[in-house]
Amino acid sequence: PEVPVICIDGPTASGKGTLTVEVARRLGYHYLDSGTLYRVTGLAMRRAGLDAEPAHEARIADLARALPLVFNEGKVLLAGEDVSEDLRTEAAGMDASRVSALPAVRAALLALQRSFRRLPGLVADGRDMGTVIFPDAGLKVYLTASAAHRAERRYKQLISKGISTTIDSLRADLEARDLRDSSRSVAPLKPAPDARLLDNSHQTIEQSVVQVLAWWQEVQ
Ligand code: C5P
Repeated sequence: PEVPVICIDGPTASGKGTLTVEVARRLGYHYLDSGTLYRVTGLAMRRAGLDAEPAHEARIADLARALPLVFNEGKVLLAGEDVSEDLRTEAAGMDASRVSALPAVRAALLALQRSFRRLPGLVADGRDMGTVIFPDAGLKVYLTASAAHRAERRYKQLISKGISTTIDSLRADLEARDLRDSSRSVAPLKPAPDARLLDNSHQTIEQSVVQVLAWWQEVQ
């Protein structure tokens, strides 16, 4: 039987991760946080002494194809080492955005992403879930929020973890990342033609979850 998929795409810090995990939990589905795969690839690139430039593209793609990656109880293990913390930093997000603009790297991660599609279903979050990875998904959501709201949420998250930063620098970082993600030639960040737009600037997480579940009901 065809395995159901819900795609949740959108810009940096729009709340995709939280929404995806919660929708997956309520439906009893698997979930895919595709950004993590680009973050891990960025980390592997750094550790191999490579840079996100065309001259290193083939070697970074080789790393991406053979990532010694294990997901275990919400932790990410790279070659057995818990790298979960390293992956959440702004620097890791920026490296992820840079490697993700390399076409060979995107191609290298395609099969791995599709392998997450297993019964009873999948909720996938990223930038190109609905446009490239699962174009036949039953529901595609494009989640946005204003840059000001996104920067403020990210700020609260980091401060609560004891990481010091400023709203202005976070906002500048996320706007730079959005610009790179939407202007790259391969799989740019943009809503699929058949995506439903959800702006959660003035919504609680619960309201967004309820909206997505209602849409999912509707398309069944
Ligand atoms: O979602 P997250 O912030 O973890 O993603 C990090 C970066 O990985 C994004 O800025 C984007 O450049 C890239 N990415 C992507 N395609 C995806 C998911 C993430 O290009 N499906």
